[in-house]
Amino acid sequence: MYVCLCQGVTDGQIRSAIQGGCCTYRDVRIALGVGTQCGKCACVAKQIARETLGEE
Ligand code: FES
Repeated sequence: MYVCLCQGVTDGQIRSAIQGGCCTYRDVRIALGVGTQCGKCACVAKQIARETLGEE
């Protein structure tokens, strides 16, 4: 599922980025560019990042 249409970032990519070493939503944003244009996806992207971080 696409989370960020501006940057073409999926929920799977957010999860992979965290599994690959990103420790915060901020790291994910820097790594993938998610939420850096219109910002509409920020809420959902943050939620996915938090859920994934919480599971580990
Ligand atoms: Fe993510 Fe626009 S949808 S920045």
